Amino acid sequence: MNVNGKHYRSIWLHTANPGIVQVIDQRKLPHEFIVEDLKTVSDVFTAIKDMHVRGAGLIGATGGFGMYLAALTAAGQLDSIDYFKAQAEFLKSARPTAVNLAFAVDRQLEIIRRFTASSTLIERVKKSALDIADEDANACRDIGKHGVKLIRDLEAKKSGNTINILTHCNAGWLAFVDYGSATAPIYAAHAAGIDIHVWVDETRPRNQGARLTAWELEQEGVPYTVITDNAGGHLMQRGLVDLVLVGSDRTTYTGDVANKIGTYLKALAAMDNNIPVYAALPSSSFDWNIRDGLTDIPIETRDSDEVRYVQGLSNNSIDRVLITTPTAAVSNYAFDVTPSRLITGLITERGICAADETSIKLLFPEMQQKHG
Ligand code: MRU
Repeated sequence: MNVNGKHYRSIWLHTANPGIVQVIDQRKLPHEFIVEDLKTVSDVFTAIKDMHVRGAGLIGATGGFGMYLAALTAAGQLDSIDYFKAQAEFLKSARPTAVNLAFAVDRQLEIIRRFTASSTLIERVKKSALDIADEDANACRDIGKHGVKLIRDLEAKKSGNTINILTHCNAGWLAFVDYGSATAPIYAAHAAGIDIHVWVDETRPRNQGARLTAWELEQEGVPYTVITDNAGGHLMQRGLVDLVLVGSDRTTYTGDVANKIGTYLKALAAMDNNIPVYAALPSSSFDWNIRDGLTDIPIETRDSDEVRYVQGLSNNSIDRVLITTPTAAVSNYAFDVTPSRLITGLITERGICAADETSIKLLFPEMQQKHG
């Protein structure tokens, strides 16, 4: 997608030195656009854990490149599967909720197992990292193609009046490799000339909505308004929201959706106001082993200081200010689970389906065979 008119993905290999992975340091956006070099597995771990990179698809792709760097820096251990297993566990421990990280790292481990003694191992792991990134971008592009139909239907119903979409957190191209999941239908609708406007939840405590989604939409020229996290219900009651469109960090095969904390409350308010709620996700965000999202999806808790402090621009430098007492008791759950009954449907790269086991497995029949 565009940054000041130039096309970027959110992760790529350094053109002059393919031993370096490059990412955008998202902690600094929207105030500074900084490209960061990742050279070691430890760099990748820190970038994921401290959220230089974030979002389900992107942490998956970064984990895939992390395994490539593990191969590049393996020295005498290139034929040691135990070395790679340890690197994989280390990377997966960086963030627990989004399943894409485990998906990508395990996929790399499989390649490493198959080609462990081969002289082409490094090239194969590199190619696989690039494939994981390409597949993520392509899946998001296709989510856009399918999801735009929902927006067209709303356009027909509203006879050309503005379609108001509410989104939470950042399920945009910064959270994936390109296009984004929740934003892909939005970008497709905008490109098709449909009159849309996006309500962007600020998404405390890290403000991914206010800092990242708003910045992305602005770069693409999509009309938007940032709102406080608590404003959504009020807007819905006044008929100012036509569609809630969110991403997902992990979706069970029964349709429960783990997403950024606060998504559940939006879905509850939407249900009360008869507003459709769609989660947009590539199939790499499905967890085919989990039936009950509420009990079985691990919910990340993060540093209390993320709640105690707010970051922003002050006198031209990025700074943070304390908003509680320094010792305020704080809890910082990063995700919640929206039960499938509150989700109208799922938008995937294969099409749109209801958030239930039968419909999901109809779209992904190979998973029906694998998991019954
Ligand atoms: O904690 P983050 O910023 O990595 O949160 C993940 C998300 O970006 C959101 O939950 C998003 O809506 C899911 S889709 C990437």
